[in-house]
Amino acid sequence: MDKVLVIGAGLLGSCIIGKLAGGCEVHGADVDTSLGEPGCEFHTVDITSRRAVSDLVTSVRPAAVFHTAALTNVDRCERDKTMALRVNGTATGHIALACAKVDAYLCFISTDYIFDGKKGMYREDDPPRPLSAYGESKLLGETEVRCLGDRWKWVIARSSILYGAFRKRYNFASWIIDEVRNGRPIRVVADQRGSPTLAEDLSGAVAELWRRGATGIYNVAGREPASRYDFAVRLCEVFGLDRSLVTPVRTGELRQRAQRPEDSSLDVSKVERALGRRMLDVRGGLERMRELWERLPPQEAAPAPEEA
Ligand SMILES: NC(=O)c1ccc[n+]([C@@H]2O[C@H](COP(=O)([O-])OP(=O)(O)OC[C@H]3O[C@@H](n4cnc5c(N)ncnc54)[C@H](OP(=O)(O)O)[C@@H]3O)[C@@H](O)[C@H]2O)c1
Repeated sequence: MDKVLVIGAGLLGSCIIGKLAGGCEVHGADVDTSLGEPGCEFHTVDITSRRAVSDLVTSVRPAAVFHTAALTNVDRCERDKTMALRVNGTATGHIALACAKVDAYLCFISTDYIFDGKKGMYREDDPPRPLSAYGESKLLGETEVRCLGDRWKWVIARSSILYGAFRKRYNFASWIIDEVRNGRPIRVVADQRGSPTLAEDLSGAVAELWRRGATGIYNVAGREPASRYDFAVRLCEVFGLDRSLVTPVRTGELRQRAQRPEDSSLDVSKVERALGRRMLDVRGGLERMRELWERLPPQEAAPAPEEA
């Protein structure tokens, strides 16, 4: 049975753990000790410590490492750029180096925020130009992985507006559901567009890329671009929620600290060709999320919204 290590056990990491558990011996790791998942052996790690990362990877000796850990709050990254570069950038280098030492496949999750959003439907070889400290720090992470060169096997999977049935903390979709279901009006930007991605769909795709031994950069995201506002409205339709509580606003009205790309949607044709299947569109993703959501145990209080 293959051994895999999933670093970062938030929305995406927990989903990858769930996807691989059963078929593999799964190890999970995160700085947050409350995030242990059933079906995996959990380790506590702060990836900014090169020694801690090296000790973890050499003790587990996995065939593959899925690196999902990050500072994902875009405005927090803008406030503390040094920390963002350390966690999302330099620490990714520690993980890449450790993978090379034990000859493990590395899958690093990156973001559409490495682009400036002037064009939309970005392809893998479009030149990056991040607008925010978050985007810059993730691009540094990509550079650290690419330094591995041809000798080692790695994938950079760029994704966008991640959402899923995860209750330990808010994601874009679960925040909308909780607010609207509780009758609270929300304001959602109508002039920021991305490729909303169900975490479960992304998890299945990266697991499959690993199984097929794919290497290089892949956009791995929902196949249909949408503005955050359109996504929120369609979510209300699928979940039977009152869409009149969702008001469209322009980015300027929110006074967010970090600049966001206007249209950072991703062209997913390369990954679809590699996998021989389609990524989910908005409706397909939301319908699947509703199925998963209905199976969750009753709501516990989720910590404050995080967002990337
Ligand atoms: N969310 C999105 O919309 C989105 C879009 C595109 C790409 N991505 C990328 O997708 C990946 C997964 O995102 P996600 O939404 O699953 O994020 P998430 O839920 O915030 O999970 C990331 C996990 O990494 C942990 N972490 C932070 N600093 C760490 C450190 N120094 N050492 C070890 N663990 C650390 C976080 O712990 P704390 O919470 O305690 O900091 C968190 O549990 C990230 O790489 C992100 O950049 C996300």
